[in-house]
Amino acid sequence: ESIDWDPADVGKSGYDHYMLKEIYEQPRAVRQCTRGRVTEMAGSLELSELPASVRSGTDRVQLVGCGTSFYAMQYGASLLCEHGIPAQPFVASEYDADSIPIEPDTLVVAVTQSGETADTLGALRAANRAGATTLAVTNVVGSSAARECDAAVYIRAGPEISVAATKSFASQQVTLAMIASVLAERQSQPFLGALRDLPSRIQHVLDTSSARHVAEEIVDADAYFFVGRRYQYPVALEGALKMKEITYEHAEGFAAGELKHGPLALVTPRTPVVALVTGSEDVVDRTLGTVREVEARGAPVVAVTTSSAPVEPVADYVLEVPETHRHLVPILTNVQLQLLAYWTADLLGRPIDKPRNLAKSVTVE
Ligand code: G6P
Repeated sequence: ESIDWDPADVGKSGYDHYMLKEIYEQPRAVRQCTRGRVTEMAGSLELSELPASVRSGTDRVQLVGCGTSFYAMQYGASLLCEHGIPAQPFVASEYDADSIPIEPDTLVVAVTQSGETADTLGALRAANRAGATTLAVTNVVGSSAARECDAAVYIRAGPEISVAATKSFASQQVTLAMIASVLAERQSQPFLGALRDLPSRIQHVLDTSSARHVAEEIVDADAYFFVGRRYQYPVALEGALKMKEITYEHAEGFAAGELKHGPLALVTPRTPVVALVTGSEDVVDRTLGTVREVEARGAPVVAVTTSSAPVEPVADYVLEVPETHRHLVPILTNVQLQLLAYWTADLLGRPIDKPRNLAKSVTVE
């Protein structure tokens, strides 16, 4: 498979940092990801790279990956489970045949932007040795992960230069949402229509986000906490990872319901809490319960939400995203978190594209 990319893709095209450029490239990356897979009229979804053996022989799925790819997988696993396919995400460095049963009828999905992360390749090799069917979800054509798996589905995000992953996460989310839908043989028209419209929804977030203003308000903090439920839980973790990677400030993500089981002790007027308040009425109500607990401790609350959630009374700041299919909302909310981390790091004068101690691709275990 070959994808055409403009030479301008490897320069900063007027942006101060590759990270910001790559955040703004997400509408295009997502369009590339769905091109030829979701048909023009959004009538059907086809992933020709998924061989029949993968489609029919899958009773359960294990996903392996690291860092941002791990959080994309955690989101993918929850969609697979919702579709009725048992799926479990594993941090690749914790995945080995001694501690985890790897049955031959398991599909093991290695999610890795670079396709070269040593921990992920180690997990993949363990799965291959155990006789599992293996699938790579990667950005790099011909990478080690792509070569060593039974099949590969490319996320088509284009080159990602910034160490902090941004557009590759969105493209991984979209690819995993498509894989979940194909494996479950569930191709609902609202989902396919929402996939087709996703680039314009992301563009809307980019055009209207007030994340820069919010960053100015919360920049001088002791720590940043991110909370979400259901599919927004991995986004909370990814939002915190982005924040710590590029600002060097302490940031942590929690399942909203877990906050009261310990982390609440850390919440003060100097710890902004970024709450992902989206989903069904019940999920929103319960997340707002968490928000009220932190508000009562004086923490500034940033609500990332769709227009339908009643956050105004409890939120100090609101970052809104458009409505879309419930499985795709986490892609939009994540864009707000990317921008929030970016502008906070920018205000702090951090070297955004090359954070200390981190590498784009970690090829040692
Ligand atoms: C490194 C990068 C992260 C990335 C992780 C996994 O730690 O700094 O941004 O998420 O590797 O990379 P992969 O290429 O396997 O997705």
